[in-house]
Amino acid sequence: MEQNTERKKVIFSGIQPTGVFTLGNYLGAIKNWKELQEDYNCIFSVVDLHAITVRQDPAALRKQTLDSVALLLASGIDPQKSVLFMQSHNSAHAELSWVLSCYTQFGELSRMTQFKDKSQRHADNINAGLFTYPVLMAADILLYKTDLVPVGVDQKQHLELARNIAERFNGVYGNVFTVPEPYIPKISAKVMSLADPEKKMSKSDENINGFISLLDDRDTIIRKFKRAVTDSDTCVRYAEGKSGINNLMSIYSSVSGKDFAAIEKEFEGKGYGDFKLCVGECVADALAPIREEFAKLSKDKAYLMSVCSEGAQFARRLSRRTLEKVYHKVGFVKAEN
Ligand code: TRP
Repeated sequence: MEQNTERKKVIFSGIQPTGVFTLGNYLGAIKNWKELQEDYNCIFSVVDLHAITVRQDPAALRKQTLDSVALLLASGIDPQKSVLFMQSHNSAHAELSWVLSCYTQFGELSRMTQFKDKSQRHADNINAGLFTYPVLMAADILLYKTDLVPVGVDQKQHLELARNIAERFNGVYGNVFTVPEPYIPKISAKVMSLADPEKKMSKSDENINGFISLLDDRDTIIRKFKRAVTDSDTCVRYAEGKSGINNLMSIYSSVSGKDFAAIEKEFEGKGYGDFKLCVGECVADALAPIREEFAKLSKDKAYLMSVCSEGAQFARRLSRRTLEKVYHKVGFVKAEN
């Protein structure tokens, strides 16, 4: 990150290293991150601490964490411009999380819809970490005096909680934390499943035709788009009740930069078949360079680790001041070494 950029606002965001990223992660988050790097001081973290709230295979988690770093770099996250690090490499996250958990109410955490969803899905492992997940997320954000957090709708409630915790703490101890605002991207694409366009595109979908992985090859991408569920209308237009077509239009718009009116015009008099093929080809073209770059980077562990080590050092330095202030405010005796 550049040195002389004090006036730029700070953006923090995290992504879980649980499986390969999908087109939904890319269009909903990573593509925006890439653009934000130009105007903000961005800090991006691969949040491995969050990942273990759900049981992970250790070897697979290690691989996925490194692959996530490689994919972010391949997608255009530039370590010269932004800070990129693995969450577990900065122990301040876990430390601040503990303090904040003492300023978060059981009732507040019980109301988190993601906790309710996840505890239903993982009924055999409703661990305390799953419950306090949003506190760790608040710590991630508050450590870096973050001004803005780009979040999708599914994380809005967690960000709201982070704001409440920050305001509550500031209310008791004075101005310790910057209260973060949500960053709503100009074009925010919520990508739905290709197999069931009422559901969000998810890598944990049991139907692999529902999601596009960033590493799917060209033929697979096109095949999945050809199979995408649509409706019995024949006209390519954005309208209520046409969630399949609406989803394909959003994807196409987000990847090509064309607006809905231009897309409707482009496909006037043409059928869904032509449209699906075109979206598939367009997505395949957009992802091809990412896949190629990933193939190179993922083999170069030394490079990936050097980026993450530098990122972690920067992250530790940035967060130390916040943590020391918090420890002082709550009444801990400062260590002398
Ligand atoms: N909970 C986020 C998700 O699953 C990931 C995350 C962790 C995050 N810490 C964060 C996002 C801080 C934004 C800011 O998508």
